[in-house]
Amino acid sequence: MEKHIFALQLSHLLGETFTREWIYEQIETPKQAHLGDLAFPCFPLARTLRKSPSDIAAELAPKIKHDVFADAKSNGGYLNIFLNQSFVTDHTLKQVLTDPSLYGHHDFGDGKTVVLDMSAPNIAKPFSMGHLRSTVIGNAIANIAEKCGYKTVKINYIGDYGTQFGKLLAAYNKWGDEEKIKANPLKELTKIYVKFHEAASEDPSLIEEGRDWFKKLEQQHSEALQLWKWFKEVSLEEFNKIYELLGISFDLTRGEAYYNDKMEPTIDLLKEKGLLEESEGAQVVPLDEENIPPCLIRKSNGTTIYATRDLTAAIDRFQSYHFDEALYVVGHEQTLHFQQVKVVLEKMGFSWAKEVKHIPFGMMLKDGKKMSTRQGKTILLEEVLKEAIQKASINIEEKNPSLKNKSEVAKQVGVGAVIFHDLKHDRHNDVEFSLEDMLTFEGNTAPYLQYAYVRASSLLTKGKFDYEVTSTELGDSLTWPLVKLIREYPYVVKDSYAKYDPSKIAKYLLDLAKAFNKYYAESKILESDNLNAKLTLVYAFTIVLKDGLALLGMETPEKM
Ligand code: ARG
Repeated sequence: MEKHIFALQLSHLLGETFTREWIYEQIETPKQAHLGDLAFPCFPLARTLRKSPSDIAAELAPKIKHDVFADAKSNGGYLNIFLNQSFVTDHTLKQVLTDPSLYGHHDFGDGKTVVLDMSAPNIAKPFSMGHLRSTVIGNAIANIAEKCGYKTVKINYIGDYGTQFGKLLAAYNKWGDEEKIKANPLKELTKIYVKFHEAASEDPSLIEEGRDWFKKLEQQHSEALQLWKWFKEVSLEEFNKIYELLGISFDLTRGEAYYNDKMEPTIDLLKEKGLLEESEGAQVVPLDEENIPPCLIRKSNGTTIYATRDLTAAIDRFQSYHFDEALYVVGHEQTLHFQQVKVVLEKMGFSWAKEVKHIPFGMMLKDGKKMSTRQGKTILLEEVLKEAIQKASINIEEKNPSLKNKSEVAKQVGVGAVIFHDLKHDRHNDVEFSLEDMLTFEGNTAPYLQYAYVRASSLLTKGKFDYEVTSTELGDSLTWPLVKLIREYPYVVKDSYAKYDPSKIAKYLLDLAKAFNKYYAESKILESDNLNAKLTLVYAFTIVLKDGLALLGMETPEKM
């Protein structure tokens, strides 16, 4: 609000040479709070106005007037604005209290649909850390999109097809043990798959066997098909345990194999548009103009591949949902693939192709190194979640043994810790996995945030907070930093969607909780005269913190 008012006043004062939008863009937040709440740099005006930046700032300062501003000062070429703290505080708190669930909400996504391709683990393999990242980042982006008014469709595009299943079938045929697989599907299937690779390096005829099995699968040979269906079923059961722990669900779970018999129209269209070329027996779409390798559509042996399926799936999704944006939350390793898919869709003439976006993210590292299934270096996600929950429960046992519903709280804390550890990093960066770091109460962790919430909630109970509050009359140096952060929340939500980056919210929540803890430590809230007014601020803090955590996909226990 205040930024808009400031820009509006400046644009009236400066005349038509500078647009209000441009002015708005220039407005900054001073790094140091004592310099004010907003700052407008006058340097870019100097040439046109033929005056020094500090003269311009000095001339403008006395002319800036509004209830929301307390003072305007010229300082080193900047026009610095100090907000009227009590006015802004009152306005902010009323805004939060009017409809707490709507605070931070936007409507620019109203009537629009975002489709998210997220999670997408591969059957018969453990759910990897990469898939965890895709799941929690995708889920948070979906929540943030909804907060901005969009309708979302979360799709889990299960990896259930490809030549590797030929190898797996061959391996099962040699060493498969139904009982063992039933008892521990992903572990057992991975084991025979790895064994197959080891054996094949000694005996290359196995590769041929794998190929034969894949052919059988492609021809829907009943034994192959039945086993494949079974692998898929048991894998999904395992994945669902993880989704349940994470509290994440999908609107559609549809594997790659679904598109097996639906790719011909895609290939026909590629031909029709003259995009297909033959290259060493294979069919490709050359992408020389774009300076990237050709997109492989059909292999020399006639089989179609990953890209062809993704092209077909994208077209199908547009037909089903008429999306305004299609986000693919998939690791950096697949950047080229999604570049190719997008360009090919554009060449096919789909105007919506420009709204197809790859949302890449970095890797999860262990001791600075990539985790790999083959070398047994993976960390199993289900174990991680369970260990996190167990650690949280030990913590509760130490700190608050008489807590009710301990196991529920342990789950909220443990799972929250794993989610937050991921989301607090800029999604592009690699993340070092560490269970210890996730769970400490100090530092930038989920328990730290959840604990700040619990502390604030208990203040509300102890102080018998009256929710019918009307006027707050707050606004002093102790409350101001917290109020300012609460004000920022809607902007943070918007920015986080614009960059498709939940870490903007995660980092903001840490700042928010730190400001609250400082406020809590410095002002004896429960002993003050204007108790209810102060509790209003505490209440507003709980609303924003809980809402922000929910956007990240985390729960907030009332007690812990
Ligand atoms: N299952 C794939 C993998 O684990 C990811 C799929 C991503 N989504 C897509 N539409 N290609 O590598």
